[in-house]
Amino acid sequence: MTVFKRAAADGHCRVGAGPRNLLLGLAALLLSGCAPDHVLRSASEVHAGSAASSGSAAPAANAVRSGKAAGAEPAPDPGNSLRQAFAPYFLLGTALSAQQIAGQERGTLPLVQQHFNSLTAENVMKWQLLQPVEGQFDFSAADALLALAEQQGSVLIGHTLLWHEQTPAWVFQGPDGGPASRELLLARLTSHIQTVMGRYRGKIKGWDVVNEALNEDGSLRDTPWRRILGDDFYLTAFALAQQADPAAELYYNDFNLFKPAKRQGAVRLVRQLQAAGLKVAGIGMQGHYGLDFPALQEVEDSIRAFAATGAQVMITELDITVLPNPEQAQIGADVSQKLALQARLNPYTAGLPADVSQALTERYHALFRLFLQYEASISRVTLWGVHDGQSWRNGFPMQGRTDYALLFDRDLTPKPAVTALLQLAAESGGERRE
Ligand code: G3I
Repeated sequence: MTVFKRAAADGHCRVGAGPRNLLLGLAALLLSGCAPDHVLRSASEVHAGSAASSGSAAPAANAVRSGKAAGAEPAPDPGNSLRQAFAPYFLLGTALSAQQIAGQERGTLPLVQQHFNSLTAENVMKWQLLQPVEGQFDFSAADALLALAEQQGSVLIGHTLLWHEQTPAWVFQGPDGGPASRELLLARLTSHIQTVMGRYRGKIKGWDVVNEALNEDGSLRDTPWRRILGDDFYLTAFALAQQADPAAELYYNDFNLFKPAKRQGAVRLVRQLQAAGLKVAGIGMQGHYGLDFPALQEVEDSIRAFAATGAQVMITELDITVLPNPEQAQIGADVSQKLALQARLNPYTAGLPADVSQALTERYHALFRLFLQYEASISRVTLWGVHDGQSWRNGFPMQGRTDYALLFDRDLTPKPAVTALLQLAAESGGERRE
């Protein structure tokens, strides 16, 4: 039987038989500061080789947590800086690709510095990139992003600790090639969170601890995490995260949270975390939107519902596709028909027509007007990329299309939406905080 150190009412840890629910027990124990020895021990044994690669990240970055400029970078022109224009209201963030972090895109990083004060790794802080092989961590790109954030006086957001995608297959496999046991997966999750969050302790403002755990109807998604660890896997993840960096903000992040059923599922999940004594600093509403969906009212209803939990609301991963949804197309077998349909589904390869550009501007304007209305509840709005050329929207839900979902063109030219947002912020009249 598993032996735990028990948290007693007097605050001391006592040894006793393990609780029936391993994960809830773990959550309670971690909260009390009494980590179960076997989990921590087995994690450090399994990952004995990881210590060398998991030392502290190089840059001292209290500035990164606070978002205050650390270096001697010139201040952006407030009249032409989204980050300054929206500073009275919320952080304005973007997501950077590996190439951008490495400085391999001419012109991108100065533009990022000018307009954004919160950085998220589009990919390089996901499990697959940080720990592709068990016990072998690669922090090179994540460290570079941290250094960049510090240099730019921006906050850094960690994305993401527990997700069912971009997690290597080995994580869920046991030594015999079958599914990992609950104990083994728990040890791996513990090791990953402790190693990653430990490295960046005090340097990352907040973490997307759990990403996309819900189905569209608000029920828990069927993933290896849930199948192996049980329905309360997210309690464990938050408890581990809280222990690894007690001062970091911890977030739940998901898409389509404007949908009423999924909204309710997220509220339930957050309430359960809170009932277990865990801190949920924010709920990330991924904003993968379109020109005509979702209805603003649905987004507003979710902002209100999430704010009512006491958590901050964050609009994360904002982008607005201008392309038709392939699911609505009738694709037949005839080759000529197929070519015609392809063109219909990818209509703007030669550039964005003025009327669609105008619709995109209006959509961004309407969304930000809503965000400003709820700025007291919203701590951050993050675009999912800098420019259209990098956007995942070009490849989803169909490969090889030309989308225009972000605020800057492929050549980094600001779109009319940027002017509209600067104007909107100026009209809102808040005092500048940066
Ligand atoms: O890095 C490899 C490269 O070496 C290889 O040559 C190339 C071949 O396809 O693939 C590259 O990896 C790709 C990676 O993006 C970096 O470009 C992956 O195949 C591709 O799957 C991956 O897509 C990312 C996707 O998450 C994975 O699910 C997108 O860039 C990223 O924008 C997207 O972001 C997610 C959020 O994390 C969570 N919410 C939804 C959002 C959109 O899917």
